Amino acid sequence: MPPATVEVHHTSEQAAQALRADVIAGLTATPKWLPPKWFYDDRGSELFEEITRLPEYYPSAAEREILAAKADELAAITEATALVELGSGAPDKAHLLLRALTGAGPLREYYPLDVSEHALRETAHDIAAAYPWLRVHGLVADFTSALTVPDGHRPRLVAFLGGTIGNLLPDERAKFLESVRNTLDTGEWLLLGSDLVKDRDTLVRAYDDDRGVTAEFNRNVLNVLNVELGADFDPAAFDHRAEWNEQEEWIEMRLRATRAMRVTLPALNLVVDFAEGEELRTEVSAKFRRNRVAAELTAAGFSLHSWWTDDEARFAVSLARAAG
Ligand code: SAH
Ligand code: TRP
Repeated sequence: MPPATVEVHHTSEQAAQALRADVIAGLTATPKWLPPKWFYDDRGSELFEEITRLPEYYPSAAEREILAAKADELAAITEATALVELGSGAPDKAHLLLRALTGAGPLREYYPLDVSEHALRETAHDIAAAYPWLRVHGLVADFTSALTVPDGHRPRLVAFLGGTIGNLLPDERAKFLESVRNTLDTGEWLLLGSDLVKDRDTLVRAYDDDRGVTAEFNRNVLNVLNVELGADFDPAAFDHRAEWNEQEEWIEMRLRATRAMRVTLPALNLVVDFAEGEELRTEVSAKFRRNRVAAELTAAGFSLHSWWTDDEARFAVSLARAAG
């Protein structure tokens, strides 16, 4: 069996530099914020996998339902020869796609891409072991900066699942979708998973579960800063908050200081004060309607080919084609 190969674009030195720049920008801003990609150290990736198995976190189950039902149709429509998966995380959704794309279609290459090197290696090796005839080449890279879609066999299918598109702000989203379009040839494909607008209660519970796994995931970003930057955050002194912003139609994740605190970050020569009750925004998770998805795809140079939802219309998977 050919082993999976892994290419590291985003070296730990580059990652460390990007982290320093993001933390200086975010923690000196008012209100304070941090970009979400820093959640995913080894522990963060593990906690996210645990989130995907929580009964409250419906997006994973809903998206799996769609992929299981539509993968054969996807294979027939796209006849993809290479699958590129951005923010691949754990291998379960790749299995659903690959079973169909290699069984009913001509696929022979799989390129997972993730910032989390550990998760990426696990997925690449797991998939290579299950599909010995498949070329598996992983990329440790940041999909928000200088996106590289591997130069595989045409036509390629780029998958961006899990609703991760919602973790980008609107202007970042536009830039990201354009960068994907620009690396594709006309006629190649994008498969996009997006969570849908629904009642507030269901949304908030998905980001604030009873067992507190999401709270631990959220606080873990402070551990990342402690380990990587020698910061002295006390994660236990922050409460997890998840709020539905009806205007923007996104969930906002925050960490709220339960007391006044001074935090030092020696690697950055930075001292940051938190007032009691002050909140640090760690992520947004935008929820979509069909019109918005179609409009954003069109603006980026794609045309919406198929729109698939689960039975309860909680989540959508869109298939779009790079337009001429
Ligand atoms: N696709 C999986 C995982 C979604 S979680 C699923 O549907 O369950 C988001 C994934 O994107 C994580 O694996 C995280 O490590 C990765 N990620 C987050 N920001 C990233 C970035 N800027 N560049 C590359 N990968 C990123
Ligand atoms: N892409 C996931 C989402 O927006 C990420 C996520 C799920 C998340 N639960 C979280 C991020 C809790 C921060 C905190 O659904």
